[in-house]
Amino acid sequence: MKIAFVSSEVVPFAKTGGLADVAGALPKEIENLGNEVKVFMPKYYSIDENKYNLKYNNAIGEMFIRTGGHTKSVHVFNGKLPGSNVDIHFIDYPPFFHRHQIYTDDWDEDERFILFQKAVIEFLQRISWAPDVFHINDWQTALMPILVKDNYSWDKLFDKSAFLFTIHNIGYQGRFSQDTMFRAELNGAYYYPGGPLEHEGGVNFMKGAIHFSEILTTVSETYAKELLTAEYGSGMQDFLMMRKDDLYGIINGVDYDIWNPETDRSIPFQYSMSDLSNKIENKKHLLQQMNLDFDPNIPLIGIISRLAIQKGFDIVSHVINELVHLNAQWVVLGSGESKYEDMFRSMAYNFPYKVSFYQGYNNDLSHLIEAGADMFLMPSRYEPCGLNQIYSIKYGTVPIVRKTGGLADTVQDWNEYNTYGMDIGNGYSFNDYSGYALLHAVQRAINDFHNKPVWHKIQMNGMQKVYSWKYSAEKYAELYARAIAKKKGN
Ligand code: ADP
Ligand code: GLC
Repeated sequence: MKIAFVSSEVVPFAKTGGLADVAGALPKEIENLGNEVKVFMPKYYSIDENKYNLKYNNAIGEMFIRTGGHTKSVHVFNGKLPGSNVDIHFIDYPPFFHRHQIYTDDWDEDERFILFQKAVIEFLQRISWAPDVFHINDWQTALMPILVKDNYSWDKLFDKSAFLFTIHNIGYQGRFSQDTMFRAELNGAYYYPGGPLEHEGGVNFMKGAIHFSEILTTVSETYAKELLTAEYGSGMQDFLMMRKDDLYGIINGVDYDIWNPETDRSIPFQYSMSDLSNKIENKKHLLQQMNLDFDPNIPLIGIISRLAIQKGFDIVSHVINELVHLNAQWVVLGSGESKYEDMFRSMAYNFPYKVSFYQGYNNDLSHLIEAGADMFLMPSRYEPCGLNQIYSIKYGTVPIVRKTGGLADTVQDWNEYNTYGMDIGNGYSFNDYSGYALLHAVQRAINDFHNKPVWHKIQMNGMQKVYSWKYSAEKYAELYARAIAKKKGN
């Protein structure tokens, strides 16, 4: 099959979260299964052409693309996903993509990603490459089914192309005003109250893809079920319910070329299941870097996160006093909403011997925290998949999570499962979205930390588990075939 994989972020070129990890890994596995994949992303200012050996696409040259009533001069750069032969094409339009951040609150945010999506389509036209499936991801790519149906319906090239839309996060839907119709230069046919593009009086990109994609997926089985409820569906639950027979949950895998303590070059001391002594060396190194003292009897709890409402820091704030008085140290890496940045900053200021906060984004530090911490806290309000808890499991860093979405599918509570004598408890989880449920789970983890054989068992239960992309890629390949069959049937 020929697959066009379209994403607004891809590791290692540009990343704000897990979508980039997925887009950097899954296409390689899809190609390993014998398919041909082309990946597309915008060429952001931060992407270093020389470092990644990107080549200007001379054969295509300048493409004139219309958005918002004006023609824009767009170029394409070609590269490969590192460690593979997968083509990646970068859509270059500096006025839109050379900004201080990947995502912005600028007035033309909609148009930035409309241009990106149109450019992908027009590039494929120029090379006459008709994908069997467009695998599109999140709102930044969610207009593509409508664009192909509408603006580009004159081109028979895509007549057989099906769409598979993956929802990585329903919290970001691409909601804009009605003006977006003009910027996309779509005819009004899809915009009317209750229509495929309209939601609550504005344009909603995601709703369009939910309506027009042959197959819908999300990134864990539990989240696929949760999405159909009012609590988790963020207003999309009724539209998803109408498509529920076409909605599948496929858990994300791990790119073990990047996230593996045995080979990870971002950490000073590599280690494996058979000998965890170097994990302690990483802990010492991390503590030193974060200005905290080492004590083997005090567990170190790590947090790496976008500090967004999704991630559960409001319930952390409800029990912050109790948490800092536990016999534990904390390293926190993240940025986002200022109230949570302030919370961690003041925690670090008031308890400098216990808490250290790095505000910002730091890839190397994220690897060092995975390797050096004893526990990893992820109290998410909702979590479509979550990757950090899966990385933690691999690094022998015991996750403490709220039982939701992908966290529920990957973390098995030690106490709950141990009751039945099973050897699968790999962390701690709590159900209620409350500070006290969280606090109780952290307390349980700290208690068990002091029981060395138990703690070692929990670490081993996790480290031996493999979350391979191969397994998930095979499931995607089955769904590509299903999408193609559905398209034919139409
Ligand atoms: P989400 O995509 O919702 O942010 P995931 O757990 O799926 O959550 O993925 C988050 C990814 O982003 C992980 O690879 C994590 O290490 C990384 N990450 C998040 N915040 C930071 C940060 N401040 N610095 C470095 N990496 C970060
Ligand atoms: C989103 C979700 C996260 C998921 C990631 C990759 O950002 O919030 O749970 O792991 O996408 O699918």
